[in-house]
Amino acid sequence: IRTIIEPFRIKSVEPIRWTTRKEREELLKKASYNVFLLDAEDVLIDLLTDSGTGAMSTAQWAAVMQGDESYAGSPSFYRFRDSVQEIMGYKHVIPTHQGRAAERILFSVMCKKGDVVPNNTHFDTTRANVEFTGAEAVDLLREEGRHPEVIHPFKGNMDVEALEALIQRVGRARIPLVMLTVTNNSGGGQPVSMENARQVSAVCKKYGIPLYFDACRFAENSYFIKLREPGYAEKTPKEIAQEMFALGDGCTMSAKKDGMANIGGFLCTNDDIIAQQEKNLLILTEGYPTYGGLAGRDLEAIAVGIQEALHEDYLRYRITSTGYLGRKLTEAGVPIVQPPGGHAIYLDARTFLPHIPLNQFPGVALTCELYLEGGIRAVEIGGLMFGKAAKMDLVRLAIPRRVYTQSHIDYVIEVLLEVWKRREDVDGMELLYEAPFLRHFTARLCPT
Ligand code: F0G
Repeated sequence: IRTIIEPFRIKSVEPIRWTTRKEREELLKKASYNVFLLDAEDVLIDLLTDSGTGAMSTAQWAAVMQGDESYAGSPSFYRFRDSVQEIMGYKHVIPTHQGRAAERILFSVMCKKGDVVPNNTHFDTTRANVEFTGAEAVDLLREEGRHPEVIHPFKGNMDVEALEALIQRVGRARIPLVMLTVTNNSGGGQPVSMENARQVSAVCKKYGIPLYFDACRFAENSYFIKLREPGYAEKTPKEIAQEMFALGDGCTMSAKKDGMANIGGFLCTNDDIIAQQEKNLLILTEGYPTYGGLAGRDLEAIAVGIQEALHEDYLRYRITSTGYLGRKLTEAGVPIVQPPGGHAIYLDARTFLPHIPLNQFPGVALTCELYLEGGIRAVEIGGLMFGKAAKMDLVRLAIPRRVYTQSHIDYVIEVLLEVWKRREDVDGMELLYEAPFLRHFTARLCPT
């Protein structure tokens, strides 16, 4: 059987709202051609992010009702800790309100001015939190990961030789930790192989440097290993995840992704002294270590969700459905980052709209066009987000977990192919207002 079906049925429905093309023209103009400034109710299919936008299961909602809201020592915390430990295996599990809070605490404790933190690719909040401590964030992605059209099973892999060269150049003392992001969101949602994780771990051990995972999409990464890496076909995604985490000393996690929750995150470490310092900082800004800025019910939702993310039938559907979207677009000639990632498809806007100069934001132009054509909201990852430093102009179609059906995906394909047909008529954008930092959230633009 080849039809992709959702491995669930729907118990609670949430209407989405149609608008006319004329209405969308007005709404987009009012939003200054920046889809962040649109009201969510005016969006039909929202592919802005896969973060915190997933649907919870009946088991998660049932667990929410078990939430114990005691300030200290809540049984919800112990259920959360045990569930995380079963997968990640680390000694200390510290809850936080989301991923970047875990990052801020980790780097505040481990980094200082002059330090260097290597990663395959830092996500923007990760980079910002490293830099906030005065340390330098260095991306060491392997060459194949930097070319959108190149097909390779593990384009998220770190360049292990570059890592060793960096350690020898700056000295072990200036590198407080190495991070590995699974999957590599900023590089197209591409996975990291077990072999690469093993090699990175070996280099870290050789120099006595701790290895931490940015684990946001660890379940999707595990499933890619099962599909693509020799020797893993017979292993369960959970066994694969356990094997990978055993190669490191800790992790940061945004439970808004493969935690299947709408809010939450955590920080793990095996180091008793570091953990104590982290908990002290946690109390200062997040909360007591058995809730860390979350309600007991949130901890329960994560405890169940993080296990569900590893269910094989779910992962098969998830990866197949994203792959289907990527394949249909590729067959029609639409340029995307190859091969399709786990949580998103990334359109290559420079190739899609070659007539739009880079200073007229081809990614923003394409994002606006998707909204006008079909009420779809995507996000530009390119010149507007990163300024002149942008190496690519991508448009990310991030797929929320368990939210949209295959027919929604077919609709997205149809809209995209319409835009593809009349791509030559799409105008560039002119920037009218920009904030001094993180300008993409508030920028105002107009068509040229
Ligand atoms: N690390 C990675 C790889 C991420 O993708 C994100 C968030 C974070 C850390 C931070 O987690 O949002 O819970 O604070 N990515 C979201 C996205 C925002 O849309 O890709 P957070």
